[in-house]
Amino acid sequence: MTASLLSSPHLNPNVFGLTPSATLAINELSDELIAQGRKVYKLGLGQSPFPVPPGVVEALRTAAPEKDYLPVRGLRPLREAVTDFLHRRHGLERARRQVLVGPGSKELIFLTQLAYAGELLVPSPSWVSYAPQARIIGRRVTWLPTDFKHDWKLLPETLDAHCRSNPGLPRLLILNYPNNPTGVSCGDPELAALAEVARRHQVLVVSDEIYADLDHHGRTASIAHHYPEGTVVSTGLSKWCGAGGWRLGLFSFPAELEWLCSAMASIASETYTSVSAPIQYAAIRAFQGGPDIESYLGHCRAILGALGQSCARALAEAGCRLPPVGGAFYLFPDFAAMRERLVRRGVVDAQTLTERLLEDVGVATLPGSVFGRPRDELTLRLSYVNFNGAKALAAAETGETVDTAFLQRHTPETIEAVRRIADWATG
Ligand SMILES: Cc1ncc(COP(=O)(O)O)c(C=O)c1O
Repeated sequence: MTASLLSSPHLNPNVFGLTPSATLAINELSDELIAQGRKVYKLGLGQSPFPVPPGVVEALRTAAPEKDYLPVRGLRPLREAVTDFLHRRHGLERARRQVLVGPGSKELIFLTQLAYAGELLVPSPSWVSYAPQARIIGRRVTWLPTDFKHDWKLLPETLDAHCRSNPGLPRLLILNYPNNPTGVSCGDPELAALAEVARRHQVLVVSDEIYADLDHHGRTASIAHHYPEGTVVSTGLSKWCGAGGWRLGLFSFPAELEWLCSAMASIASETYTSVSAPIQYAAIRAFQGGPDIESYLGHCRAILGALGQSCARALAEAGCRLPPVGGAFYLFPDFAAMRERLVRRGVVDAQTLTERLLEDVGVATLPGSVFGRPRDELTLRLSYVNFNGAKALAAAETGETVDTAFLQRHTPETIEAVRRIADWATG
């Protein structure tokens, strides 16, 4: 009997065996355990704990009646506000026309991979979705090695060696600082050196700056300063504005890459058409900024910076090694120093490490392997966001000093989760 034409063998081979994104899967597993009555500390999903700034929520309320389809590239005043924002905050000179608004920067990264027929280069570790997106499209992926000694940052000589080994090929490099999963920020001289190599080999760069405004020290380094003609800057509302569920991302292109912007806009026009109209109107308010937004960002950075440092200290005292905490809300501890002891307890790789942490002490994290690290390396990512962001933000706004006592009062679940990991590791 012949197989039905409506059966799984007819799946596109590129998506055969593709599983849901690891970050979403850990969230669902945690919720299942909670539903069974277990206490779970959710350090798995990377979502902003803070509410959307009230002025931006108000703008969305006002824009609720907006119902028309909008231009594929996005609302003109939004594209202008984003260009001005990138100039004001990050010193980037860009034309207002070359902005593309999408339903999340994730979708725009996917469209780039679809439009540009090149090999995908990603440092290991990198965010979970870049490589699966390439796989869906059937693109080749190369993980570029990094190491703890260099804070898991991509070194120019690594990029250079790879490009030299097979010169003249089109390549797309995705860089992400502040970084998910390591929480590391990258300095200007390091980005300048990478830019020099990228320019020499004509590598197209997507600078994923979704966490740029959550650099804990407010730093604004970008590879686009050093390689403007070959860099697309990716940003959005999801992280700094706490609006992941609003699904709005933005790409800013240099004039030299108008052909890419135009191709991506054509794909958008045949797929999602345009992003939700009310969300685009509200986003204008977010990117126009103002003293309320600056104050909001200042408090978010102060809370995340203090909490990140505190968690990193506790893990380092327990014997983990971690790179310096720079931005976003992630830590990437390496349990290598405890390997022998952990192996005796049946923990042989990052997957078993995360499973045991969830089973033994109820802390949900993600294994380094889903970010492209070797399976047997004992790294994991934790997102220090399982606290009531609205309450913590309100306390900071009323003038409470963000110190150890503040963290105990307003982020107790996160402090407890990390204490549990540390006790488990030393036990
Ligand atoms: C590094 C990185 N890039 C992109 C995204 C996607 O963000 P968006 O909500 O704009 O699709 C995320 C979300 O977790 C991320 O961590």
